[in-house]
Amino acid sequence: MKGVFVTGTGTEVGKTVVSAVIARMAAAEGHSVKVFKPAVSGLDELADLRGREPIWDDAKLLADHQLLRLASSSAQSDDEISPYRFGPAVSPHLAAEMADEWIEVETIESRATEAMEGCDTFVCEGVGGFLVPLTRDYLVRDFAVFLDLPVVVVANPWLGTISDTLLTVEAIRNAGLEVVSVVMTPWPDSAGDLERSNRDTISSLGEVSVRELPLLDLRRPDEWPGI
Ligand SMILES: Nc1ncnc2c1ncn2[C@@H]1O[C@H](COP(=O)(O)OP(=O)(O)OP(=O)(O)O)[C@@H](O)[C@H]1O
Ligand SMILES: [Mg+2]
Repeated sequence: MKGVFVTGTGTEVGKTVVSAVIARMAAAEGHSVKVFKPAVSGLDELADLRGREPIWDDAKLLADHQLLRLASSSAQSDDEISPYRFGPAVSPHLAAEMADEWIEVETIESRATEAMEGCDTFVCEGVGGFLVPLTRDYLVRDFAVFLDLPVVVVANPWLGTISDTLLTVEAIRNAGLEVVSVVMTPWPDSAGDLERSNRDTISSLGEVSVRELPLLDLRRPDEWPGI
């Protein structure tokens, strides 16, 4: 597979963790990997690493583009991974307006194309859920359609996930894209009837394979499993 687009049922579901695991697996297999995320917001809430290169011990503190770079062993710059980066933790179109900036669709698409063409494996994380606006009239969905990559859906295993996940799967397929699998994260060690039923229900109603990703120590990538 040339690459993958990682979306999720919403924000904070584990897209960066899943993207990092995929990127790390591909890099460990000897692929040259490039990563991308069209816009990152919420940088105000992150630790100040004072300009030094992050190390794995910082994993919990990193912005998405930094963790993706670390996981992929890519030499991409911040701009090459995420052309738009904002301080406030709000949707990118609003963050751009608050900063008096304008997200250019052409910039996002051309940077992503450059990255995709320069590697064996391209891992792109979306922003929030599948219908989040990047501009007032260009959604994450439109960007995924532009890339035309198979899509991984990240979801949580707990109550409420069935409808959120099936809606996301349906929207992706309606956009003409393939859903490779749903990844449920973090999959609890002590998964009970609820989590197992959620997993099996999503798999059968969504006609999709569902994988489980356990809670990882983000600082110890050598202990991460494959997905
Ligand atoms: N398998 C896992 N192992 C360890 N931590 C996890 C796992 N899954 C999710 N998390 C935790 O859940 C939180 C959200 O994960 P993550 O940052 O990957 O979400 P996201 O969907 O990328 O969020 P955003 O919408 O801000 O990009 C993080 O604190 C992350 O460490
Ligand atoms: Mg993320």
